[in-house]
Amino acid sequence: MHLLRSFGLAASLLLAGAVHADDLLALARARFQPIPDTPPALPGNPATPAKVELGRMLYFDPRVSASRPGSCNSCHNVGLGGVDGKEAVIGHSWQQGGRNTPTIFNAVFNTARFWDGRAQDVEEQAGGSRFNPIELALPQAELSEQLATIPGYAAAFAAAFPGEPAPVTLANAQKAIAVFGATLITPDAPFDKYLRGDASALTATQKEGLQLFMSKGCAECHNGINLGGNMYAPFGILERPGADVLPRADKGRFMVTETVGDQYVFKVPTLRNIALTAPYFHSGRAWDLGQSVGVMAASQIGAPVNAEEVQKITSFLESLTGEQARIVYPILPPSVAAAQRPEP
Ligand code: HEC
Ligand code: HEC
Repeated sequence: MHLLRSFGLAASLLLAGAVHADDLLALARARFQPIPDTPPALPGNPATPAKVELGRMLYFDPRVSASRPGSCNSCHNVGLGGVDGKEAVIGHSWQQGGRNTPTIFNAVFNTARFWDGRAQDVEEQAGGSRFNPIELALPQAELSEQLATIPGYAAAFAAAFPGEPAPVTLANAQKAIAVFGATLITPDAPFDKYLRGDASALTATQKEGLQLFMSKGCAECHNGINLGGNMYAPFGILERPGADVLPRADKGRFMVTETVGDQYVFKVPTLRNIALTAPYFHSGRAWDLGQSVGVMAASQIGAPVNAEEVQKITSFLESLTGEQARIVYPILPPSVAAAQRPEP
C-alpha cells in the first residue's frame, strides 16, 4: 500500500480494495471541503442586517416579478430542501421549456450556474464570472414596477443602501437577494463532521459508499465544497440515457454555444442535500435516488457498479443532508391603490 501511495496512485489504491481509515479521510479531504458555519462574504456586496432583511422580503414576495408565477420561494422552497418537488417548471428557462428547479441551498458556492451555463443578459456576458448565481436569478427588467411603487419598500431599500439618493433599483434588489441567498447554506451534514475529523459521523456503509464514490470516478465531476456545481459535462458520456430521463429536445449547453461537442452537456449539479431534492436530473424524470445513481453509473463512468454498490453510494449520498436553514417568514409591505396592479 505504501509503495502504491508513493507513486501517487490514489485511484489504484482505492481500486485495490478496502483502504485504511486515515487514507480514506485524506483522500476525501483532497477532493471535498466542508460547508462553513457562516455565510460567505460576497465580493463588492457586504452583508448588513438591513440588507439581509430586504433580501428576505424580496425572496418571499410574489410581486417581485411580473412574468413569473410566485416568489423565489414558490420554486426554491426553503422548507423543501430549496426546491419545489416538481418534475420541471417553466422557470428562468421558459424559452427552452421546462427544467427541474435546482436547490437554492449552498448555490452561493456554485461557479457553474444554471443547467446550461447560459449568460442571463448582455451585462453578465461582459462581466463574466464576477456575478453570483443568486444575484443573477433576478434578471434585468424583472423587478416588477408594481414592487417599485409599493411605498413600504422605500424604507427597507434606504436602510439596506444608506446614503443612496434613489436606492430602489434592480441592481440593489439583486444585491439584497444575493446576500440573503448566501445565508441559505446547510452546514454540519454528517459528511462535514467526517471531513472535520469525526470518524464516527459516517456509518460503515457510508464510508464504503464514499470510497466507491471516489474509486468509481463519481468525484471526477462531483467534487469540491458542493460535490458538484463547478463544471459542465455531457449527460451520457459512455451511454446516452433513455429519452425517459434525457428528453432529446433539450440539448443543454449546445443551445447556448451551438458547438456540436456541447450537445446534451449540462451543469454537474451539487449533491448536497440530494436526499431531499427529488425528482432528479434537469428533466426531473427520476424520483428515486438509488435509480439516479444507477443511471449515473451506467451513463457517466467506465467501471461497472453492481446493485450493492449502488446501495452503498446512495447511503453515502444520504450523509450529505445538512442543517436546514431556519428562516423567519417576513411581513411584507402592503400593496396600495396607487401601485401598479398585477398583470391579469
Ligand atoms: C417558476 C419557478 C422559479 C422561480 C419563481 C424562481 N426560480 Fe430560480 N430556478 C428555477 C429553475 C427551473 C432554474 C433552472 C433553470 C435552468 O438552469 O435552465 C432556476 C435556477 C436558479 C438558480 C441557479 C442555481 C444554480 O446553481 O444553477 C438560482 C441561484 C436561482 N434560480 C435563484 C432564484 C431566485 C433568487 C429567485 C427569485 C428572484 C428565483 N430563482 C425564482 C425556477 C424558479
Ligand atoms: C462525467 C461527469 C460525471 C460523472 C463521472 C458523474 N456524474 Fe453525476 N451528474 C453529472 C451531470 C452532468 C449531471 C446532470 C445530468 C442532467 O440532469 O442533465 C449529474 C447528475 C447526478 C445526479 C442527480 C442530481 C440532481 O440533483 O438531479 C446524481 C444523484 C449524480 N449525478 C450522482 C453521481 C454518482 C453517484 C456518480 C458515480 C457513479 C456520478 N454522478 C458520476 C456528471 C457526472
